[in-house]
Amino acid sequence: MRIQYKKALINISEHVYEPSEDSFLLADAALSNINGFEHILEAGCGSGIISAVINASTNASVTGIDINPHAVKCTKENGVEAIRGDMLSCIKGRFDLIIFNPPYLPTEDRERQKGWLNAALDGGSDGRQVIFRFLEDAGNCLAEGGKILMLVSSLSGVDEIKSRILDLGYSVEEERHAKYMYEQLIVLLASKRT
Ligand SMILES: C[S@@+](CC[C@H](N)C(=O)[O-])C[C@H]1O[C@@H](n2cnc3c(N)ncnc32)[C@H](O)[C@@H]1O
Repeated sequence: MRIQYKKALINISEHVYEPSEDSFLLADAALSNINGFEHILEAGCGSGIISAVINASTNASVTGIDINPHAVKCTKENGVEAIRGDMLSCIKGRFDLIIFNPPYLPTEDRERQKGWLNAALDGGSDGRQVIFRFLEDAGNCLAEGGKILMLVSSLSGVDEIKSRILDLGYSVEEERHAKYMYEQLIVLLASKRT
């Protein structure tokens, strides 16, 4: 399947998350927050749609990382540098901006799917399992003055997520919102407090 969004035209392969409203909302927020030649990391890059949109419209350099090997291959085929890894543990560099559209759906054991697509959707029983792991790792990968742009949903406990971000020493604001079917999608922008 092929998808065009903004100036990016990408292919989506099997076993890879199909970009949706959450991907597009976060891509829009990313474009609004890039001013020049930032070094950007996209956690959970999936097909690479958000990174490809950034590549097509800005001078920033972007690297994707994903646990799903099909996603890493797909992102590379869409012209974006990507590596395979579980969250950010293997990342050595420091980035000006880290972007993440996480798996955020509260998921019970019986709802888990077989196969790699589960990793795109399964946020653990409260929807925050992967988000909290990401937040723990992200601080070690941010350059001075670096920021996080992360999509969350009204289904995953926005207040609890904001509270964890504040506890980790960031300020946080709601960068943008969109209503999507039965949920509210929110892009959070977190900046390390100095
Ligand atoms: C909702 S999808 C978003 C994909 C793409 N960024 C987009 O917006 O269309 C979440 C992505 O996070 C990846 N992911 C989940 N857990 C991960 C982990 N522990 N480490 C790295 N990537 C992970 C999934 O494989 C999936 O590609």
